[in-house]
Amino acid sequence: MKFSGSHILSISQFDRSDIERVFEVADRMAPYAHRQRVTKVLDGAILGNMFFEPSTRTRVSFGCAFNLLGGEVRETTGFETSAIAKGESLYDTARVLSGYSDVIVMRHPVSGSVAEFAAASRVPVMNGGDGANEHPSQALLDLYTIRKELQHQGRSDLDGLRIAMIGDLKYGRTVHSLCKLLCLYRNVTVVLIAPTELQMPPAIVEQLRSAGHTVLESDVMEGSISKVDIAYSTRIQEERFADRAEADLYRGRYRLNQAIYTRNCEPNTVIMHPLPRDSRSEANELDNDLNDNPNLAIFRQADNGVLVRMALFALILDVVEQVDKNARDVNWYTERRF
Ligand code: NCD
Repeated sequence: MKFSGSHILSISQFDRSDIERVFEVADRMAPYAHRQRVTKVLDGAILGNMFFEPSTRTRVSFGCAFNLLGGEVRETTGFETSAIAKGESLYDTARVLSGYSDVIVMRHPVSGSVAEFAAASRVPVMNGGDGANEHPSQALLDLYTIRKELQHQGRSDLDGLRIAMIGDLKYGRTVHSLCKLLCLYRNVTVVLIAPTELQMPPAIVEQLRSAGHTVLESDVMEGSISKVDIAYSTRIQEERFADRAEADLYRGRYRLNQAIYTRNCEPNTVIMHPLPRDSRSEANELDNDLNDNPNLAIFRQADNGVLVRMALFALILDVVEQVDKNARDVNWYTERRF
């Protein structure tokens, strides 16, 4: 794909060489993300960061990624403080905000809304999550993390990957985008573990099968996570249910803790989660007793989000080759934390 000036709305836009390109640029962002070097390549550029649904990681890491490239961030959070609450259309909001920004990231509760917004925008728009539909930057950082974790184990190839996805696979947009992304690889085994009512949408299962992948569906976790490289846990997406009582039917159904991991998983199985994990006792999908497990990759995964989002900005705004020019070492104290 041509990155420069493009919207990033869906994983379907990418082919395998595009993914390699994103990962290669993400690797090159490490000195900046890790606070060893400073670049001002986006000096003067403005990101419109518009989040109409709760977010911590995605919003802040998109903002940090832009700041780390030297740009400025303007933010709107929630409908209440936005003119959308006064009845403004997505079309008008897009026309106006794209006059104030060089690139826009948007999260919105309605599937397809970010694409609708992008159609009216005069600048590139990135989908930070549209309802239960897609979350492309999360899928990219997830696969980037999988690749890094496997490389750490001495495996260089994503072909032949075995992954279990656990939890709310119906409404979880991160797993929808991740499955679409895995379709670009070969010979993947995907174990889908969910209550029957919350299984992966059939169209996505079909896409995986058409890509030649092995898809196994189950509603029990123990036993189903025994032969996987990656156990990818997800939260029950309560905000997509009719009410709390409906979400309560499924909350806490799958709980991974150290004892279950030891009993079921291979010693190197990597544990992932897009976060936030729901740590309330009635849910607790990933127990805190996994925090010292070296295969718990959830915080490395969140750190990787900055690298991947920096790469997307650098590619879309066409500055990849300029990032290292005009860069310098940091001149403040930076404890080693990566
Ligand atoms: C996810 C999301 O918003 O889709 N979070 C994230 O962006 N890292 C997953 C979730 O909220 O459960």
